[in-house]
This record gives sequence, C-alpha cells and structure tokens, in this order.
Amino acid sequence: FDAVDVIRTKRDGGALSPAQIDWVIDAYTRGAVAEEQMSALAMAIFLNGMDRAEIARWTQAMIASGERMDFSGLSRPTADKHSTGGVGDKITLPLAPLVAVFDVAVPQLSGRGLGHTGGTLDKLEAVPGWRAALSNEEILAQLDDVGAVICAAGSGLAPADKKLYALRDTTATVEAIPLIASSIMSKKIAEGTDSLVLDVKVGSGAFMKDRDRAGELARTMVELGTDAGVRTVALLTDMSTPLGLTVGNALEVRESVEVLAGGGPSDVVDLTVALAREMLDAAGRPDADPAAALRDGRAMDVWRRMIAAQGGDPDAALPVARHTEDVLAEADGVLTTLDAYAVGVASWRLGAGRARKEDPVQAVAGIELHAKPGDEVRAGQPLLTLHTDTPERFARAREALAGAVVVTAPGELDGFAARERT
Ligand code: URA
Repeated sequence: FDAVDVIRTKRDGGALSPAQIDWVIDAYTRGAVAEEQMSALAMAIFLNGMDRAEIARWTQAMIASGERMDFSGLSRPTADKHSTGGVGDKITLPLAPLVAVFDVAVPQLSGRGLGHTGGTLDKLEAVPGWRAALSNEEILAQLDDVGAVICAAGSGLAPADKKLYALRDTTATVEAIPLIASSIMSKKIAEGTDSLVLDVKVGSGAFMKDRDRAGELARTMVELGTDAGVRTVALLTDMSTPLGLTVGNALEVRESVEVLAGGGPSDVVDLTVALAREMLDAAGRPDADPAAALRDGRAMDVWRRMIAAQGGDPDAALPVARHTEDVLAEADGVLTTLDAYAVGVASWRLGAGRARKEDPVQAVAGIELHAKPGDEVRAGQPLLTLHTDTPERFARAREALAGAVVVTAPGELDGFAARERT
C-alpha cells in the first residue's frame, strides 16, 4: 500500500477497504506513515466521514496496535463507565466504589484533564499520598480485593490512539464523530470490560454542543461496543451548566466525599445513582439499590479501601487555596445562566487545568458555586468563589466569566430580556 493512495481514496469521498485501514493504522503506529500523511487522512475523514463498516474496522485496527487486558479470571463481572467529559464532572469518584459494593468489579482506567475539562487522575492526586500509576498485576489484585480501581491507563492500550489523538489535537480534527467514537471505544474494548455505560455530554461545556450530534456519537459508540461483545448503553446528559457546586481538583474530591457520606448536591447524587443503576443492570444486578448504599455508608467503606490501596490517606485533610475571591450578584433576581464552558475555562485559568500535557496542575485551584440556574439571588450575594495559590490569575479568570453568569430581574423573566446583565 501507499499512504498517498489511502489519503486520495478518502479525499475523493470513497470508502477505505479493511486492508487499507489495517495497513495505515499499523504503519502509522510503527512510524512508516508520516505525521503529515496521517494529518491529511484525519482531515479527509473529518470532511467526508466514514461508514459503519469503516469505523468498526478502524476501531479494531487501533485495538490491535497494542495489548488487551483480560479480567476473565476475576470471580465477579466487570462494569465500566466513560464520560465524554465536562465541567465539574466528578461522578467517577463516588460511582466506582458505589458499584463495587454490589460485587461488581469496576476497572476505571482514567485520564488527565486537557483544556477546560477536568481529569479524574488530577482530581484524585489532590488526596495526599494517592498514586495513579499501577501495573496490570496491581490492577487485577485490587479488583479482586477491593472491587474498584481508578488509575492511569497504561501506555500499552491502543498506542495508535495515543499518537493519533495528539495529532488531532494540533490539526483541528478532534470533533469528528468517527474519530471520537473509535478513539474512546478502542481503549474501552482493549481494556476488556464486560459492560460499559457511556455518559455522553451535551451542551456548552461538552465536545458535542447539540443534541443531534451527541445522539449520533452515542449511537455510533453503542454499535461499536455491541459488535465487539461488550454490553454497551449510553445516556445523554446535560452539560450546559457545571455539575454540582464545585469545579477543580481538591474541591471536587471534597464534594465526592460528601456524596459518599450520603449528602452532596442533588444533581451529582442523581446522576451517580442513575449511572450506577445502568452499570448494575448491565452486570446482572438489576435488584441492587445504589441509593441505599450511599446513605448507609457501604459506598464510603469501599472508597476508603480503594484510596488506601493506592497509597492515599482517606482521613488526611485536603489542601486548601491560599487565596480566594468572590464574584457577587449585581442585582436581585433569578440566576438564569451559569455557563459550563466559561466556568471550566475560568477554573483552568486559576490553575486547575493545563495548557500543555506536561504542565503541572494546582490541586487547590477551582471554583465553588453558591447558586445554580433557577435559584433566586440578592444583589451583593456571592455567586462564585474563585480559589488559587497564584492570585495574579484572578483577573484572567474573571475575564473568562464575562457574560457567563446572568441574573434576570423578576419582571424580565418572560423571554429573558436581560440576558446581557451580569
Ligand atoms: N476522548 C477520547 O478518548 N478521544 C476522543 O477522540 C475524544 C475524547
């Protein structure tokens, strides 16, 4: 094969043959197809799409580029969850121990934040002593013993995706449904879970801003999982406003622990329980009552063991920012908009996220929300508290929030005439 022929096929709107796909993924992983060639192919796929058979084959070829994990030796079924990413989305933290209460093993191989969305590993690293990197043997031993593990995906899973994802990030080819679906599902299928629940986010804080595209992404991923023998279901959930009342690493751990203690904001509790029900159903535990396991402390027990098994101290105080500033309501009224994307960017600028993969993050940085859309607020009341160790970051965080926090006066609620007011 010749890379130029493969690119030309897709450039001219044709379908790639299985042999072309197998060859191009393998050759790219080995370095025999150049970055600029894969970059042209990714753009041709972005512009012309791929049919179902092409997407399935592309996914299989990415799986074949690396190792597959095998959980078949465990005595319990495995269930996993994947969120397409959002702002304040800390659900994995309470969810993994909650599902493990019911004798289901939860191998949650996770990532770090990039851009405005947070990463599960960055959040858990706010817990003193906690370690993200585990060997495959350690993962299996912890699943056997505790039932839940949240750790870094090893470099052996779908190495073709690692290279391709980094390339897409720098060539404006991330937001293509065939490429997103195959990227996510190649890693999940290679991980070897029996069942998978996808939380596909829709709204300003998500990759997919509108419902039709999110639905198409969900359908494509469910088909890929099902065809590969993984019981796969998807929920479409809202990401137009942040989840819960905290955004940022240590702040989100604190809120997750509140949920595990039977409290916490209702949107976080409801989504955790809804996803747990789907995972437990898919794993053959339709009668389990996850809400009860949050209230009676069983999920908290598994959380404590899960954190301790990875070197963390579940009783240690979480770090707290040296500097905070409040954003105040300027008028009486109803909070009608609190934009997820803007809050995500502001939190990132406060130090919770990174601009380049190798940058460090501040565990303490982030944003606390004191009101959610629909709440009545009074002039002068704090709506947000910004947290950081580096106060020179406050100004740029406030810039990101311009226009993103809208309070509408009671008389103007019909038609939201006062959308521009902050
Ligand atoms: N997450 C992934 O793993 N891959 C994508 O392409 C997008 C989100």
